Amino acid sequence: MPRSKEGYVLTPWEVSGDIDYDDLVDRFGTSRIDNDLKKRIEKLAGDVHFMLRRNIFYSHRDMKWILDEYEKGNKFALYTGRGPSGHTHVGHLMPWIFAKWVQDKFGVDLYFQLTDDEKYLFNFDLEMEDTHSYALENALDIIALGFDPAKTHIFIDTDYIHTLYPLALKVAKRVNFSTVKAVFGFDNSTNVGSIFYTSMQSAPCFLPSDREGKKVPVVIPCGIDQDAHFRVTRDVAETIGYYKPALLHNKLAPSLDGTGKMSASIPKTTIFTTDSPEDVEKKVSESFTGGRISAQEQREKGGEPDICAVQNYRYYLFEPDDAKVRSIADRCRSGDLLCGECKGMLKENIKSFLKDHQERREKARSSLEDFLLKD
Ligand code: TRP
Repeated sequence: MPRSKEGYVLTPWEVSGDIDYDDLVDRFGTSRIDNDLKKRIEKLAGDVHFMLRRNIFYSHRDMKWILDEYEKGNKFALYTGRGPSGHTHVGHLMPWIFAKWVQDKFGVDLYFQLTDDEKYLFNFDLEMEDTHSYALENALDIIALGFDPAKTHIFIDTDYIHTLYPLALKVAKRVNFSTVKAVFGFDNSTNVGSIFYTSMQSAPCFLPSDREGKKVPVVIPCGIDQDAHFRVTRDVAETIGYYKPALLHNKLAPSLDGTGKMSASIPKTTIFTTDSPEDVEKKVSESFTGGRISAQEQREKGGEPDICAVQNYRYYLFEPDDAKVRSIADRCRSGDLLCGECKGMLKENIKSFLKDHQERREKARSSLEDFLLKD
C-alpha cells in the first residue's frame, strides 16, 4: 500500500495526511502534464481549462498517444465514475466538470459508472437499497452539470450487470489474489466481493470498444487515488484485445478545515451539492483560514492565503479567473482584506453556484431516463 515516509496514506479507500503529489507521480510511475502537453491540448481544444492551467489536473498516462490518435481522426471516449456512498460533495464535481469541458471541446462520448456494488461491498453500514438510491441521486448531479444526453451514458452497476459482467470476467480471469493484495493491501479477511471489485471498475474501459465494434481509445479523468485500479486494468488490457486506458489525474479537493481532502464522512468541513444557503454560511464561517489572531495583527502583518482553506476552495473550484484569485491573495497578504469579507465573497460564489445547480438537479429527475444505460 502506498504509505510514504511523510506519513500520508492514499489508496482508493483511504486518504489522510498531507499528500505529496510529486512523490505520487514517482511512486505510481505516471507522467507529469508538462507545458508541451498542455499546449497540445490547448491547440486542439481552442482554450485551456483552469484546472489544467493551475495543475489541478497534473498527471497522466498515455495522453500523448491519445492526442496522436485524435489527430489521425481516431476519437477517444471518456470514462469516469462515482462510488455512491452518500450525497455528492463539491469536490466530487471536479473531474466531472473537467470531463464536461473535454466532451464539449473534443465532441466525445462519456461513460459514467455508478458503483453501487463497490460501496455496498466496502461499507458494512450501507445496504444495497442505500447505495442504489444514492446512485440515482448522484446521477442528478452529473446531469445537472449540463452533459449532452446524446453523448453521455450513465449506468449503475447492478442495473447494467448483464453487459458489464462478461467484460469484468475477462479481467478477473487474469488478475490474481497476490496482485490485488499487493496493490490494495488486502488480506485473508477481505471479503471476496472486494477482491473481485477492480474487475468491475475495469469493465467500462472496454465498453466503448464493444459498443462500437472496434477498438476505441479511452481517457479516464479521475482523482489520482483511483490510479491503483487502472494500473491493474492496464496490465491486462492488451492481452484481452483492447487498448490500455489513458488517464488524466487530478489532485483531491481540499477540506474546509485545512487538513487534507474533502471527505463526505466529515460533513462539517465539506460542502454537499444538496446543502442549503444556511449550511454554506455556517461551514464557510467556521472554516480554517490563513488569518491572524486579531484584526489589528492582520492589518499589520497580513494574512497567509497559501495555507487558507477559503482561498483553496476558490482556487480549486469556485473562481476560474486567475486575476481575481491573485488580487484576493495580494489584498490578503497586504492586510487590506480581512477574513470576514473574504469568506463573504466565497459564500456568495458557493451559494449562487448551488442555487443554479439545485434547480438543474431537480429538473434532471425528469430526464434521468435519457441518460441511463440499463440491460
Ligand atoms: N471507485 C470510485 C469511487 O469510489 C468510483 C469509480 C468507478 C470511478 N469507476 C471510476 C472513479 C472511474 C473514477 C473513474 O468513487
